[in-house]
Formats: sequence, structure tokens, C-alpha cells
Amino acid sequence: MALTSTLLATHFSGAVFTLSLTTEGSNGTLDITSAAGGCGSTPTWLQYYGDTKKLYCFDESWQGYGTMAEYSVASNGVLTVTGQAKTTGNSVHGILYGGPLGRSYVATVEYTPSTLTTYALPLKPGPDAPFTVPLQIETFSIPKPGPNERQDRPHPHQVLLDPTGKFILIPDLGADAIHIFAINATTGHLSACPDVRTAPGDGPRHGEFWNAKSNTTSSDGLMLFTVNELGNSVSSWNVISRKGCLDLSKLQRLSTFADGKVPAATIYNGASFPPKAAELRIVDNFLYAANRNDKLFGEQTDSLATYKIDPLTGRLTWVEATSAYAFYPRSFSINKAGTLVAVGGQTSSTISIIARDTATGKLGGLITSLQVGSLGTYTNEDGLSSVVWVE
Ligand SMILES: *[C@@H]1O[C@H](CO)[C@@H](O)[C@H](O)[C@H]1NC(C)=O
Ligand SMILES: *[C@@H]1O[C@H](CO)[C@@H](O)[C@H](O)[C@H]1NC(C)=O
Repeated sequence: MALTSTLLATHFSGAVFTLSLTTEGSNGTLDITSAAGGCGSTPTWLQYYGDTKKLYCFDESWQGYGTMAEYSVASNGVLTVTGQAKTTGNSVHGILYGGPLGRSYVATVEYTPSTLTTYALPLKPGPDAPFTVPLQIETFSIPKPGPNERQDRPHPHQVLLDPTGKFILIPDLGADAIHIFAINATTGHLSACPDVRTAPGDGPRHGEFWNAKSNTTSSDGLMLFTVNELGNSVSSWNVISRKGCLDLSKLQRLSTFADGKVPAATIYNGASFPPKAAELRIVDNFLYAANRNDKLFGEQTDSLATYKIDPLTGRLTWVEATSAYAFYPRSFSINKAGTLVAVGGQTSSTISIIARDTATGKLGGLITSLQVGSLGTYTNEDGLSSVVWVE
């Protein structure tokens, strides 16, 4: 029986695409069905809320300003802008939080300004208004640069809500830290908790929560997994409640490559470009991490790493590397059924659909792949930037 799904994807050239995927067994077709603007010059990240059918899009524009957009998503996937905010730009991630339903405020992080910014919702229609006045801006700082040359200053990369909706965690690639804030759900105000340090040079980028089915040293078996872009590794943390704050205690750190063997950097135009881990996703007791520029499966084909998570202890073990069927897989998302993985290749500017075995967690063959928008150029911030399922 043929199944149809809808996906949304951002492209660094300014568009947000709607795609229709039809699959039947190991065959499938992917088509672009519509495209929208409204998310500034450099859309980078999408957050979709299935309960309200609202989509939030964040603009990485490094021109000194940007546009955050809210869309309603019709049943055919067509996007209509319902609100916009003019921002200070360079937002790399955002999430809603606070209020009675967790949908009253939006928090974003800005990579090079090194800021966390919050706004009250709803956003007003129209991008040409003066700068939308934020509710709060926190600027991160470090006493000295980190060991990696990209750690010249803090580079907050994600705004992650904990499962209770009471805390926001911010992996900071430049600062080798995870910033933690307690949420006042009424006012939207964020209060800083003590930072958690990663190992020097880890460069944490993104994280996701997971629950162990039994006793760990953490509160209720809650754990956090993070992917380290600069160190090409994933870390696991026990989550501990402490006096109105969350604390993290590191359990493990494993390479995103078999036996820790990081493929050689590519020398290009006189500069060195090492592999850099991008995204992680967890389904049941399996964790997946995307590697950019490792070329493990071809001159323009990178890998996805699969790990098994022990359901009782949360301990990770390496399973295998498989093809991402994409070059620079900056983003990937797994459908709710756990049967399909959509990989967004930045430089290949592709969406590749890969089969996933729900019992073994193993990623299988390519079902279909489509170039979406213009190709990226090697080592540049262009091409496809993110992909999500609409469900
Ligand atoms: C949230 O802020 C309000 C107004 O400042 C304050 O009255 C309330 O106690 C705060 N709530 C928490 C949980 O801190
Ligand atoms: C968890 O630990 C507590 C305290 O040590 C113990 O009473 C309880 O039986 C344990 N639960 C499981 C599922 O092991």
C-alpha cells in the first residue's frame, strides 16, 4: 500500500519548501509541491508543532538583521505566513516555551553574536516593522578562546527544552559548555543556572533527551545525549535536579567513527576542512549521529553513525556507519513510525529518504532522493539547511 507524507525543508538561499513523499515498500518518489518565502535571506532551522499546525523558521542571516517567521501549515503542506519578527540575525535555532501550553514565548540563539534572545508570542504580521523588541537578551562570554580555532568566542547552537518544559539547555560550540536556564512559565523570564562544562575542544552542537527504563544516578532515569561538532563525538549525561536547576553528570563520550578513526581532513583552496559532526536523533533505544565531510561512502557521500543505548543504564555502544546518501548531512529527521529517515544534505542540497528497521534500529537502503533548490558549494554555508516531517 502506498503511503504519502509531507516534509518541509529550508534552503540557505531563502526558500522554505514543501515536499510530498510517496512510498511503497522500498520504492518512493519525492516531489516539491510548493515553496514559500518570509524567513529572511538565510533560513536555517524549522520547528514544527503538530498540535497547532504552526511552523517557526529561524534566519541565520549574518547581515546584522534577520527575519523570524511563523506559518500555518495547511493539510496539503502549503505555508501561509501568520507572523514575523525582525531580529538581530544569525539565529541558528529556536524553540517555543512557557505559558499555559508551552507556546507563549520563543527563544533563539545567535551563533556569532553569542546571544540567547527571547520574544513574546504571537508575532505580528509584517517584516518591515522596526526591530521586534526582545523580552530578554543574554550574551555569553569566555575568559579565553578554546583549543579549537573555531572557538574564538561562544557559539550557542541550539535551544533545547527539557521534557518537563521547565528548563532550557544551550549547547555552546565555542565555549565547550552547556548553558542551563530555569523558565518562569508565567513571565517567560529565563534565570541562569550554573553552566556544565564539556571536555575542551568538544564543541557541543545539539542534544536530545532520553529516558532509561530503570535506575541510573539521574533523576527518574532522565538522560541527555549531545553531539560534539568539533570533537566528532557523542556524549551522554545523567540529568540531576538540584535546587530549582538541572545539573548534568557525564557518563560517556564515544567517537562518531568506528574505533575512533576520524577520516583525514580535506585540503581545499589551501585550507584544511576536517569532518564535523552535525546532528543527532534518538528513536527508542537507538541513537544516530550525522557526519559532514567524512566522505566514508564516496567522494561526495558522508556517513550516519548508529549506536545502541542500553535501556536500563543508558550506556551507548557503537553499531555501525552507514551511508547518509548525502554530502554534508547537516540535518536529518526520523518519522514518528520510526520507519523512514529524511536526510538533508547541505552541499548536495538533497533530501534522501532512507529505510529504518524498527526492530534492529539499522538504517537500510536509499528509497528516494531529490535535489531541492540550488546545489551548495563545497565548504560554504549554502545549499539545503534543514528538513522536518509534518506529522
Ligand atoms: C515568575 O515571575 C513572577 C513575576 O515576577 C513571580 O511572581 C513568580 O513567583 C515567578 N515564578 C517562579 C516559579 O519563579
Ligand atoms: C531503584 O532504586 C531504588 C532505591 O535504591 C529501589 O528501591 C528500587 O527498587 C529500584 N528500582 C528498580 C526498577 O531497580
